Amino acid sequence: MSAKERIDLSKIPSHVCVIMDGNGRWAKRQGLLRTIGHQNGVKAVRDTVEAAAEIGVKFLSLYAFSTENWKRPRWEVDALMDLLVSSINKETKTLMDNNIRLTAIGDIESLPSNCRKNLQEAIQKTAGNTRMTLIIALSYSSRWEIIQASKKIAEAVAAGRLSADDIDDSVISANLSTSFCPDPELMIRTSGEHRISNFMLWQLAYAELYFTDKLWPDFRKEDFYEAIEDFQKRDRRYGMVQEQTTD
Ligand code: FPP
Repeated sequence: MSAKERIDLSKIPSHVCVIMDGNGRWAKRQGLLRTIGHQNGVKAVRDTVEAAAEIGVKFLSLYAFSTENWKRPRWEVDALMDLLVSSINKETKTLMDNNIRLTAIGDIESLPSNCRKNLQEAIQKTAGNTRMTLIIALSYSSRWEIIQASKKIAEAVAAGRLSADDIDDSVISANLSTSFCPDPELMIRTSGEHRISNFMLWQLAYAELYFTDKLWPDFRKEDFYEAIEDFQKRDRRYGMVQEQTTD
């Protein structure tokens, strides 16, 4: 029986996020340039998007480029941006055929203009799709996002539109770039690293964390389904005792 067949389709996490890691190591192990690792990572992106849509995940977030990634060598950053543009252009038709909406979070203004333009076109084109939303985190870091949210809230308080006493969980969530979707219930990270790396720090408060040693370019549908299967075996209590959360 495959991992997909073992999945309980009535208990699919509505939002899954993925830290795609290990492209560089995958390439190095074969004596190849890091950029070849990124190119091979695109196949894993395709498989993961398909796998998530097939079982009814409603939101899938992929951490494609962090604020810290700008510090990588210029040639690697340029190659990643080119790869993003070409992947977006190539995959827009597949997204349309599969009724998948594309959106992006992060400091999109900091992206090169051709990357921004292609991204915005794909976002507009797929805006009416309803099966699943694919969220690409680009030039994203959670601390950056929390600072942006804090500024917006401070401005609302200063302008008298909001009282400081009314700031609660929902006010913070509503001012984050993920305000349109539920918090992730499952976070997957590849390549054996056990870190969150400045990704959705607020939103991951109650998420289940799943780590696999697979390097991102080797990650396939079956690996995604194994993560879902593992998630379904967890006892999610949100700080309560077991009797309060099971029926
Ligand atoms: C991490 O591996 C991966 C990235 C920084 C980039 C991920 C980007 C892609 C897979 C390209 C396509 C993306 C989309 C959404 C079309 P790493 O370079 O940090 O690997 P290392 O830790 O082994 O050095």
